[in-house]
Amino acid sequence: MSEPAIVAEGLVKRFGAVDALSGVDLQVPAGSVLGLLGPNGAGKTTVVRVLATLLRPDAGTARVAGLDVVRRAAAVRRRIGLAGQYAAVDPYLTGRENLQMIGRLSGLNRGAARQRAGELLDEFDLGAAADRVLRGYSGGMRRRLDVAASLVARPSVLFLDEPTTGLDPRGRSGLWHTIAALTAQGTTVLLTTQYLEEADHLADGIVVMDAGRVIAKGTSDELKSQVGGDRLELRAAPGVDPAMMATAVRDLGSGPPVVDSGDGTVVMAVVDGPGLLGDAMARLSAAGLRVTDVALRRPSLDDVFLALTGQSATAGPDLAETGSR
Ligand SMILES: Nc1ncnc2c1ncn2[C@@H]1O[C@H](COP(=O)(O)OP(=O)(O)O)[C@@H](O)[C@H]1O
Ligand SMILES: [Mg+2]
Repeated sequence: MSEPAIVAEGLVKRFGAVDALSGVDLQVPAGSVLGLLGPNGAGKTTVVRVLATLLRPDAGTARVAGLDVVRRAAAVRRRIGLAGQYAAVDPYLTGRENLQMIGRLSGLNRGAARQRAGELLDEFDLGAAADRVLRGYSGGMRRRLDVAASLVARPSVLFLDEPTTGLDPRGRSGLWHTIAALTAQGTTVLLTTQYLEEADHLADGIVVMDAGRVIAKGTSDELKSQVGGDRLELRAAPGVDPAMMATAVRDLGSGPPVVDSGDGTVVMAVVDGPGLLGDAMARLSAAGLRVTDVALRRPSLDDVFLALTGQSATAGPDLAETGSR
């Protein structure tokens, strides 16, 4: 078997007193998509920056397309694309001018740069805005241009750091199509995302990080079977306190109930869902707690994330990153 397109071994990175990475190992087979997940501050962007040669690790090694990211940084850069919170696009140039400039910088001649820019503008549905300066683009248009810019030089390895954050559902599914088409052509993709549905849909392999470490890896199905059992989901009737529902059913669960008071829901891992459903309903009714909805379902990737990290994947905006954009 050929070497994976991305290999990281024992990556360590400190920022002053902060251990951003404390020994991260990961591998991404060529032509596959790795979804890198973790709560804010887990170290995902730091991993991407090390692999994309923007940051030197304090310890450990990484190879991208077979090349060491520290010793062969310039050669690595010629083979990768990067779209993230720090894309190198110029707000005072038009979309087309930005893409053409990037094409020229990556060695295309004038005609080839113009043609590639046109292709990407069409593919990302930016044709109508192509000749407007970026400053006037909406957030979603700007993000599509960032991703288009990372593809100008047809990289063999692509890093996408939260590529669809802030995109509407249509923009998101458009980008999913593009990513699927790229991998069908052999491109390797490492993407970070807050949308676990996105990782579920796109990623061949998933790595979950927390506090600078890898805490789980596998396919989506492997991770789901690891957290085990079914999920019992209860929705409180108006005026009913979901925390009291949780107390009533707590000892039927194989894990503690998770209460979302905003949504009025309780979710709990259970071993034999159908067997204890009647018992759960009887207890709620005995306590006078009315529900409007009851469901038994297989664990989602969100349940996996919650079980592993103790928090939900969309636990609020990433202020540090928004601010540095
Ligand atoms: N340039 C930096 N200077 C200081 N601390 C940083 C810097 N970049 C990241 N960090 C810190 O390193 C940790 C990991 O950050 P990051 O890789 O951005 O996480 P994620 O992308 O998973 O949200 C966080 O505690 C963050 O505050
Ligand atoms: Mg980040």
